[in-house]
Formats: sequence, C-alpha cells, structure tokens
Amino acid sequence: MKKRYMYRNFMILTVFALAAIAVAAEKTITGTDAQVKAFLDAHKNQWHDMNIPEQDGQILYDLIITNNYTRALEIGTSTGHSGIWIAWALSKTGGKLITIDIDRERHEQAVQNFKEAGLDQYIDARLGDAHEIVPKLGGPFDFVFNDADKDWYVNYTKAILPKLVAGGCYTAHNVNPRSHSTDIMEYWKFVSTHPQLETKMANTEGSSIAISYKRATPQTEKNTAEQK
Ligand SMILES: C[S@@+](CC[C@H](N)C(=O)[O-])C[C@H]1O[C@@H](n2cnc3c(N)ncnc32)[C@H](O)[C@@H]1O
Repeated sequence: MKKRYMYRNFMILTVFALAAIAVAAEKTITGTDAQVKAFLDAHKNQWHDMNIPEQDGQILYDLIITNNYTRALEIGTSTGHSGIWIAWALSKTGGKLITIDIDRERHEQAVQNFKEAGLDQYIDARLGDAHEIVPKLGGPFDFVFNDADKDWYVNYTKAILPKLVAGGCYTAHNVNPRSHSTDIMEYWKFVSTHPQLETKMANTEGSSIAISYKRATPQTEKNTAEQK
C-alpha cells in the first residue's frame, strides 16, 4: 500500500518536473527570438558597412533551418548583419558560426552587436586576414557564406571545398552571372562547371546569392550524359 503511494507521488513529481523543464526550454527559445527580433527591428535600415539586405539574411536563415545545418563559416563579418541571421538560425539547429574579418573596427562592432542580439554564444568571431585563416581551418563545415574580397572568392572556395560535407552548401554574395566583373565571371564559371557542385541563384533581382550544394559523387561527363 505504502509502496503504491510512493510510486504515485514519484510519478506526479516526475510529470511536474518534466512540465517545468519544457516551460523553461520554451521560455529560452522565446527569449532568444524576442531579443534578436528586437535588435533587428531597432537596427532596420541602419546597416551601412556593406552589409547584406534583410531579404538576403532571410535567405541564409531559411537555408540553414531547412537543411538543419550546424557547422557554419562566414568570410567577411563586417559589423555582423549577415552573422546575426546565420547565428539566429544556428541557435535553433544547435550549431555554431565561425566568422572572419580583417577590419578591427568592424570586427569589434560586430562582437558588440552579437552580444546585444543575444547570439554571442553561437559565434566565434575572428579578427584577421581570411587569406591566411581560411586554409588553416579544420572544418568540417556544412554551411558557408562568402562575402569578403571578390578577387579571392575562387581561392576561398578551393580551400573550403574539401572541408565541406556532402549535402553542404557554399553560398557567395553579389554573384550575378550577368556581371561584367572579371572576378565574378571567374567565380561563376568555377562553381557552375565544378563537377562536385550544383549551383543555383537566389535573389537575382537584388544582390544575387550563388548557392552551391556539394554532391556526394562528383558529376562526370559519363553520368551527365546518362542523366540526359
Ligand atoms: C561586404 S562586407 C561583409 C558584410 C557582412 N557579411 C554583412 O552582411 O554584415 C565585406 C567584409 O569583408 C572584409 N574583408 C575583405 N577582405 C578580407 C580579408 N582578406 N580577410 C578578412 N576579411 C576581409 C571587409 O573588411 C568587409 O568588412
């Protein structure tokens, strides 16, 4: 009899404890969302350091959430607008972002912005030259946003591709296939003809983002012909 009561009380306590944990978890998620949204609202139309527009932030966010990416890299932090969208998504997938910028002032402002947005725990912001840092990164990564010096886009991609997992996604900003910039033309040719990449474009009417997914098996001339 006594044992039965003890068991009942134990079950009641367990249910209450689980309910309390669920409420606390819900509060945490709501808290981060509320803080990020408030930060983005307060800074709307105030990003003046070559930052991406909000529309592109939403595209990066959706890519991460849809594919459940967790290991992200950004080349070109500036003051952190894109980093905030990326890290916001990672706060939901349980991931982390490494972001790099060479400019001390912009890097410091970004670090402050990440804190104010409540996302600093999801971001490792590094100050330095990405030409040197990127090839030394261990990886692996499943999401990359390249938004730094365009004449180095191909080099960054070559350095990261072996560290990008199959199914991972390499994105690059301001890549319009109709561009007359030789750097962009060179980049577009590289990603659109690379046998391991399947590339599509987003926001072509705006700033244009090239989105390249890494294939599990490189596409050869043979399997291209088979697909036709
Ligand atoms: C277009 S802005 C990035 C904007 C940022 N992604 C955003 O939307 O908030 C380009 C940034 O790349 C940085 N950059 C350029 N060359 C670099 C290099 N070699 N290493 C690291 N950062 C570099 C610049 O300092 C600049 O802040």
